Amino acid sequence: MEKKIRKLLTERSAIILAHNYQPPEIQDIADLCGDSLELSIKAAQTDADVILFCGVHFMAETASILSPDKTILLPRRDAGCPMADMVTPEMLKKKLGELPPMPVVTYVNSSADVKALSTICCTSANAVEIVNSLEAKAVLMVPDRNLAENTALKTNTKIYLWEGYCPTHDRLTRGDVLKAKSKHPEALFMAHPECRPEVVALADASLSTSGMIRYARESDRQSFIVGTEVGMLYPLKKANPDKTFIPASDSMVCEDMKKITLSDIVNSLENMDGEVSVTEDIRKKALSAVEKMIGLAK
Ligand code: 13P
Ligand code: SF4
Repeated sequence: MEKKIRKLLTERSAIILAHNYQPPEIQDIADLCGDSLELSIKAAQTDADVILFCGVHFMAETASILSPDKTILLPRRDAGCPMADMVTPEMLKKKLGELPPMPVVTYVNSSADVKALSTICCTSANAVEIVNSLEAKAVLMVPDRNLAENTALKTNTKIYLWEGYCPTHDRLTRGDVLKAKSKHPEALFMAHPECRPEVVALADASLSTSGMIRYARESDRQSFIVGTEVGMLYPLKKANPDKTFIPASDSMVCEDMKKITLSDIVNSLENMDGEVSVTEDIRKKALSAVEKMIGLAK
């Protein structure tokens, strides 16, 4: 299967980008694995004709916003993000009508239509930096209320929340973390900023998924409790074979991130199946918000 995929990738002048939560066999065949920010930057820079995205819909859509001349493939159309679905353009327009004018900082985990109504995008790796860069008195952050609350604790900007959340990260409780900590008192606790603020308050570090890989690599400690989707244990262990990683809770599974299989990749490349694109009007508006974020990230 892997040989077949490699051959198809050459024939199509294609690359595979995979999110850190993807299953091991997908990460092993990918040209680049990373967090949302790294994948967006790579999608903007590659000279491949085709980008096959192993992740969820908003990631493929972001690649299409940045690279309209390339073909973007998502091997499973039903791989979505429940949090991204918690804000629609209609809902956002209504909310903006109720608030005084202010910048809208939109998490990349959102649809192109919502990005098109936004001032700037952010990811979990740069949310505080992005909010501070606006030099605004107040901003509205959508759709993740946990990311917004965690960001508010690190900035002087007033942050208006949107009531969205990631079901996988919101599921982690203080009780789960305290239990893991008492079982592994020697371990450091890393939390993703999509976790609830009371969970992040227990963390030694709050990091994006790739931030966790770097933190564990640079730390002189041996074991880490991992407060994010359980797929993260694989790249953490791959990058740090001598260290120990303990899931903060076994229930932190994102079903959408587990949908794509190697045979879906073969099918997608053979038939150019699962193309994701954005209408030009929406793309141009969304591009401005995504480019502003990437400009800051460089
Ligand atoms: P990052 O990899 O950017 O930290 O995002 C986590 C996530 O939930 C992606 O869906
Ligand atoms: Fe969306 Fe959460 Fe799954 Fe990430 S882990 S894709 S935020 S549901």
